Amino acid sequence: MGDRYTTGVIRMGSKGSVSDVKTEPKRQLRVGVVGAGIMGSNHARVLAGLPDTALVGVVDPLPAHRARVTELTGCQTFAELDELIAEGVDAVTIAAPTHLHHEIALACLARKIHVLVEKPIASTVEEGRDIVNAARQAGVTLMVGHVERFNPAVAAIKQAISGEDILSIGITRVGPFPPRMSNVGVVIDLAVHDIDLIRWFTESDIVEVQPQLSSAVAEREDIALLQFRTASGVLAHINTNWLTPFKARNVTVATRGKYVMGDLLTRQVTECFGFKPDGSYSMRHLPVGHDEPLRAELIAFLRAVRGEVPAVTGDEGVASLEIAIRCLETPARPAASSPPRKGPRRVVG
Ligand SMILES: NC(=O)c1ccc[n+]([C@@H]2O[C@H](COP(=O)([O-])OP(=O)(O)OC[C@H]3O[C@@H](n4cnc5c(N)ncnc54)[C@H](O)[C@@H]3O)[C@@H](O)[C@H]2O)c1
Repeated sequence: MGDRYTTGVIRMGSKGSVSDVKTEPKRQLRVGVVGAGIMGSNHARVLAGLPDTALVGVVDPLPAHRARVTELTGCQTFAELDELIAEGVDAVTIAAPTHLHHEIALACLARKIHVLVEKPIASTVEEGRDIVNAARQAGVTLMVGHVERFNPAVAAIKQAISGEDILSIGITRVGPFPPRMSNVGVVIDLAVHDIDLIRWFTESDIVEVQPQLSSAVAEREDIALLQFRTASGVLAHINTNWLTPFKARNVTVATRGKYVMGDLLTRQVTECFGFKPDGSYSMRHLPVGHDEPLRAELIAFLRAVRGEVPAVTGDEGVASLEIAIRCLETPARPAASSPPRKGPRRVVG
């Protein structure tokens, strides 16, 4: 398990020219999925279709979820993690509920199994750090599933702002209540995606946090307006909620030389540039790829298992979680007179 592979062999002809380039087949990686809910089913679907990969099986305690994933992928399923491990796996992806990430990741890492863990890395920063340390001790790959990094629109924005002097970032991630509520609010569930993007776009740590949270309908926060300052001086804000009747995911980045606007759903990315003193400027749509983000993420994970640096490290996952938790723990300045909210509350849990 976990060995590294040589994938290409170049044979030289008698005069030293390349006469034959032969790529040796990679050894298949044996991969399992833990959790067969919404995300885990998608992991299994994608892994089942990847080259040089064998989907060994999927673990879930719920028979109905196991049956669904078998129907989707034809793979075997198990009620217990140990049954999957007994089959022999090089790597697992963990898409169980967040509060179980710690226990499941440690069990896999103790057996030197490479791990991709869904975002957020864990429920607490301490648990996240435990996972990072366990991966380090085991000498195996740990990657965190911040899938938005693999959204081609996000990649186009990242490329457009590369080398630019970034001034501010605005991200809107809103939508209706998810059909099944987990035991976390909108900050840990949604804003953590954008905290990761802000850190990634700026390549800087978030050093100041000014959150405004409200729970209009749910017991936990379902509206969040979060403001940040990075160590590099970039101002950023996230507007997220579960109270908008439609999904929207928009990013704007202002740099000294450009204004970049991206719609992460329609994958349209536009930049304004060439600002002139008379107020005129140019505008162009940027080319954006078509890859499925989860497929690109899982390919990146398997590359990391084969020796590349993970695209999203455990430390990055912990750093984003830490900021999300700071948003929840930073007391909001009380409004001068905030009237009590009326209407029924939705019980979450
Ligand atoms: N990257 C993203 O965009 C994204 C999107 C949604 C969810 N997520 C993350 O994925 C994880 C799962 O979320 P979801 O929406 O798929 O939840 P879900 O509730 O749909 O699925 C969780 C599954 O885990 C199973 N499970 C429970 N205990 C288990 C155990 N001990 N071992 C194995 N499986 C177990 C449940 O039966 C369920 O089938 C969460 O950490 C969530 O934050 C990430």
